[in-house]
Amino acid sequence: MKKIITLIMASVLSVSLFAEKLYVGTNAEFVPYEYLENGKLTGFDVELMELIGQKAGYEIIWKDISFDGLIPALQTGKIDAIIAGMSQTTERQKAVDFSNPYLYFKSEHLVLVNNKSSLNNKEELKNKIVGVQLGSLQEEFATKLGAEVRPYNSFLGALMDLENNKIDGVIIADKTGYEYLKSMKTLKILDKITDNYPGASIALKKGSLEKVEKINDILENLKNTDEYNNLVIKYFPEKNN
Ligand code: ARG
Repeated sequence: MKKIITLIMASVLSVSLFAEKLYVGTNAEFVPYEYLENGKLTGFDVELMELIGQKAGYEIIWKDISFDGLIPALQTGKIDAIIAGMSQTTERQKAVDFSNPYLYFKSEHLVLVNNKSSLNNKEELKNKIVGVQLGSLQEEFATKLGAEVRPYNSFLGALMDLENNKIDGVIIADKTGYEYLKSMKTLKILDKITDNYPGASIALKKGSLEKVEKINDILENLKNTDEYNNLVIKYFPEKNN
């Protein structure tokens, strides 16, 4: 009997002491979703994932990698999940399993140009050089516009080239674009693009049904709670919901 009790106690202890480690990949240059503040990883996605980790019993271990390296890292098992403001495109759905979306507002994208640009709308970017983040949804939009797509590892690089008139436009997610516009005064909004993809979702390795269900349940329970709403208000104050 004593032995059994000791065994039970040992297993209870080990569960709390050794929570399952979940290696989560992100790309920390996507304000307000994920970014570095004084060298520390923060943002809506980061806080949300930590919250999910607490509820699911995962210890989250963060890996900051380039956006186009995220899905390959998941596929090769270097990470277990991705949270990076990643939209569920049909192409990506073939490569990974997605949770339900964790943000419930429409995603829009800004088409930015230099203040000096003479372009009047996004259609005029046909055959012009458009900077986008490599592997992003915006890359797809630029291709659809018939632009000459210039892929960058970081948005910042693309925006700096736009400031220096090296390229004709940049397509970027709206919230992130507005953040950069606050400091980059030589850029302006030319146009907007709305997409109909389901919103940002957490990606898991193909076949991780159990984890997907666990995360979906937690997301469902978080919806409309103060815990969730406060995060939205903190990082997306303009949404105010
Ligand atoms: N929503 C866009 C996409 O899914 C851009 C996401 C970029 N995220 C990032 N952490 N850099 O392609």
